[in-house]
Amino acid sequence: MSSLKPVRGTHDLWGEDILKHLMIVEVARRMSANFGCQEIATPIFEFTQVFSRTLGDVSDIVNKEMYTFPDRGNDELTLRPEGTAGIARAFISEGMSQLTPLKFFYQGPMFRYERPQKGRQRQFHQLGVEFIGSPSHIMDIEVISLASVILNELGIKNYQLDINSIGDSESRTNYREALVQYLEKYKNDLSEDSKKRLIHNPMRILDSKDTKDQEIVAEAPMLSHFLNINSKTNFDSIIHGLENLNIGFNLNEKLVRGLDYYCHCVFEFKTQDLGAQDAILAGGRYDGLIELMGGPSTPAVGFAAGIERLALLCGKTLVSPRPTHLIPLGEAAEKSCVQICYQLRKENLLVDMSYSGNMSKRMKKANKSNAKYAIMIGDEELKKQNATVKNLDDGQQQTIAFSKLSDFLKTSKN
Ligand code: HAM
Repeated sequence: MSSLKPVRGTHDLWGEDILKHLMIVEVARRMSANFGCQEIATPIFEFTQVFSRTLGDVSDIVNKEMYTFPDRGNDELTLRPEGTAGIARAFISEGMSQLTPLKFFYQGPMFRYERPQKGRQRQFHQLGVEFIGSPSHIMDIEVISLASVILNELGIKNYQLDINSIGDSESRTNYREALVQYLEKYKNDLSEDSKKRLIHNPMRILDSKDTKDQEIVAEAPMLSHFLNINSKTNFDSIIHGLENLNIGFNLNEKLVRGLDYYCHCVFEFKTQDLGAQDAILAGGRYDGLIELMGGPSTPAVGFAAGIERLALLCGKTLVSPRPTHLIPLGEAAEKSCVQICYQLRKENLLVDMSYSGNMSKRMKKANKSNAKYAIMIGDEELKKQNATVKNLDDGQQQTIAFSKLSDFLKTSKN
C-alpha cells in the first residue's frame, strides 16, 4: 500500500531529529525574544490570493510550487509556501497598524511543490522574524544581526552573508530598462527559463544558475549604478552598521531574491556544506507589501531560515533531562509504583516505569532510558514504606522513605 509511505518530499520527525528541531526553534525563539520579538502563529492555509498577489504572478513559487485547492465551500485555498505574506495579512486583518513598531518571531511548516533533494522538501519548516513599522536602516541591521546571532548560538560557522540593494521602485524601473536593453542582444543564447524571465521578471536572470546565463549577466549593467540617492544612502547606512557590529558580509550585486515583494536591502546566508541547496537563511525589506494587500503603507523587513537545513549543519542537539525509573517487584508493589509515579509527576519530576518484565529486564530498560536513579520497590519496601534507590552511574544503593522520595529527587543533581 503506497499510501503507507510518507508523501514524496515529506518526512516524519521523531527521535533525535525532532529533538534537534525543537532545540533549533528554542534557540531562535530565545534570541528573538532578546531582540524584543513576540511570537505569532498564523494559519497554515490562507486564501490563495494572499500569496498569488504578493509573491509575484511569475515567481516560481506562485507559478509552479503552490499547493492550491478548492475547499468544500469552493473557497480557493493555498497551503502557505512561506510566512511573510500571512503575517502581513494578519497585520491588516487584526488592525495592528496603531501598534507599530512590531517585531514578530514565527516558526512552522511550509509547503512547496519542488523537486525533493538533500535540504529541499515539499513540506519543510521555517523559523523567521518580521520587524514591521519602520523605514530606518537600524531595523535592517537589527534583523541581520539577529540572524547572525541565531546561527552563532547554534554553532553554525561555515557560512557567508551575501547582501545587496535592489533599491526602491524608481531605481528598479530604471535598472530594468537598461538590463532588458542589454539582455535583448543575447536573447537567443539565454536558457529557456531566462527567455521567459526576460519578458516578465528580467532581474531574476541575474541569479540564474545556468552557466551560459551567468556568462551573459557577468557583463550586464550593474544594479548599484542605478540606485537613486535615497536607496544608496539607505544601503550605505546598513553596510556601515554591519561593519560597526563586526558582521562580515559579501556585496553580491547579483542577489535579487525570488519573491516580488522585496525592495532595498536583501540578504542571504549561504553555505557550501549543503550542495545545491546553499541558502540557509534569507530575507530583506518589503516596504510595499502591506499596502499592496490593502493595508496602510507600512515598511517592514524580515528573514526566514529552513529548519531542516539548519539541522543538517548544526552539531548540537537537545540535552534531555534524565528520568528516574521505578521498578516494582510483585503485584502489590506495581500498584503502589503507579501511585508513586503519579504523585512525583504531579510535583514536576520526570519519572517513568516499565509496564512489564522481570527485575533484570526492567533494570535494562532503566539503563537504556538514561535514568540516573532506579527506584526498586518490593514487598519488604512496601512493609517499611521505604524504597531502595540505586544510583545507576556509580551503583551505590540507599534506602529512602516514600515520603522523602520527592525531596531527594528534587535536590539530587542530574
Ligand atoms: P525563501 O528564500 O523562499 O524566503 O526561504 C527562506 C529559507 O527557507 C531558505 O533560505 C531555505 O533555508 C528554506 N527553504 C525554502 N524552501 C525550502 C524547501 N523546499 N525545503 C527546505 N527548506 C527550504 C522566504 O520564505 C521569505 N518569506 C523570507 C522573508 C521573511 N523575507 C522577509 N521576511
